[in-house]
Amino acid sequence: MLLLALDQGTTSTRAILLTQEGKPVASDQRELPQIFPRSGWVEHDPEEIWRATEAVIGGALAKANAKASDVVALGITNQRETTIIWDRRTGKPIHNAIVWQDRRTADVCERLEKAGHGPTFTAKTGLLLDPYFSGTKIAWILDQVSGARDLAAAGHLAFGTVDCFLLWRLTGGKVHATDATNASRSLLYDIAKGDWDDELCGLLNVPRSLLPQVVDSAGVVGHTDPKLFGHAIPIAGIAGDQQAATVGQVCFAPGTIKSTYGTGCFVVLNTGATRVASKNKLLTTIAYKMGGKPTYAVEGSIFVAGASIQWLRDGLKLFASAGETQALAAAAPADDGVYLVPAFTGLGAPYWDAHARGAILGLSRDTGIATLVRAALEAVCYQTRDLLTTMQADGADKPVALRVDGGMTANDWAMQFLADILDVPVERPKILETTALGAAYLAGLGVGLYQSTDDLASLWQRDRLFEPNMDAGRRDRLYAGWRQAVDRILTK
Ligand code: G3P
Repeated sequence: MLLLALDQGTTSTRAILLTQEGKPVASDQRELPQIFPRSGWVEHDPEEIWRATEAVIGGALAKANAKASDVVALGITNQRETTIIWDRRTGKPIHNAIVWQDRRTADVCERLEKAGHGPTFTAKTGLLLDPYFSGTKIAWILDQVSGARDLAAAGHLAFGTVDCFLLWRLTGGKVHATDATNASRSLLYDIAKGDWDDELCGLLNVPRSLLPQVVDSAGVVGHTDPKLFGHAIPIAGIAGDQQAATVGQVCFAPGTIKSTYGTGCFVVLNTGATRVASKNKLLTTIAYKMGGKPTYAVEGSIFVAGASIQWLRDGLKLFASAGETQALAAAAPADDGVYLVPAFTGLGAPYWDAHARGAILGLSRDTGIATLVRAALEAVCYQTRDLLTTMQADGADKPVALRVDGGMTANDWAMQFLADILDVPVERPKILETTALGAAYLAGLGVGLYQSTDDLASLWQRDRLFEPNMDAGRRDRLYAGWRQAVDRILTK
């Protein structure tokens, strides 16, 4: 009896088979090519996402020597906000997916902000008017693809984030639905009422006919078409990847907090049944919805974390594999005033500057590869401190510990620096694939394999605790240098 998690992330598509105890049995993965049509624009090919999805599910089953009939439930988790519009009659997308990092709709957001609509969007959605979210991306596709507005008016078009597009494809076009966590990232969904909002749809010029049904994060929403994997698998869990990681880290109690280091970095603080409104530009979002009840969270979103390591590796070709970064960073001279501000696609929380671009500051003749690697890893840690500081400015307590996951957390040097710069213990779980784990847990809850979230709490296991070990003077000096570096690139 196995659970299957499909994790469709920004840079890869992964399927993992797990036991009921959350132990990975087999996995398969494919890199997802990135398309950069212009500065600040990022796209994916939805057909490539689909091909990869079919391939990795088949691959994971084959590696485990398992059949689709051995799988009790499938959970889908996904890069959030990434926007796809397809024709319901053919299932064919009418444009490439516009990825969450894409900044092309910055001017639309600025116009709406100037017109005084920002507070309305924030009050209803918990978000800010920023091109990060799906709403303005939907309108952009409808306006730019010839004939799209007419097709939409005729009811032929469907919008979905990646979870929704995959659910549609996996069910053979039978189900057009998304879960509340994904809906909560659209700028169109009222997180208090739990429904799409007509006023917001009007302001963004998005016809409601495009929007999917919104379902709980756990519960059977459809079955895979038996033609795909030889047997119908119940699809019983859906959540955006950061919310799935929150579940995978079993952050179910209000006040528990996790930080995931994937392409970007996202800190999510569970606030229970209370919607906490930030005064400092953090997001209020849905952590998960179960049994018809939403659990809320405060989120800090950083757009570039692992992506800067990827850039150093693939763009600048400074090293061959991310595994080398630990030794490089450890070998670099410390405290030499070199800062890398990875604002490749603007800056997210708490700055929200769509026009800022990246910079490396403080270079000297002896700056080498190791220093750049160290600065890239440090930048991720400084940005995490930006988020925790902002959460505390909003009234949150300093966390007792920060649970971390994602690829970069395998790097001991980076995790120690994180604990040092935060002055907070950093807890790394045994299973770093927390996002997939969360999707599997949701699917397991959805089919009744687990009775409640209490069943999951005992499954969490710590791999290592990183205790802070830096004197306050050095910590403050380093962080002050980071803030000065950020100030140099802000455009507003
Ligand atoms: O909001 C974007 C986020 O969901 C992307 O996550 O894991 O691809 O960095 P990731």
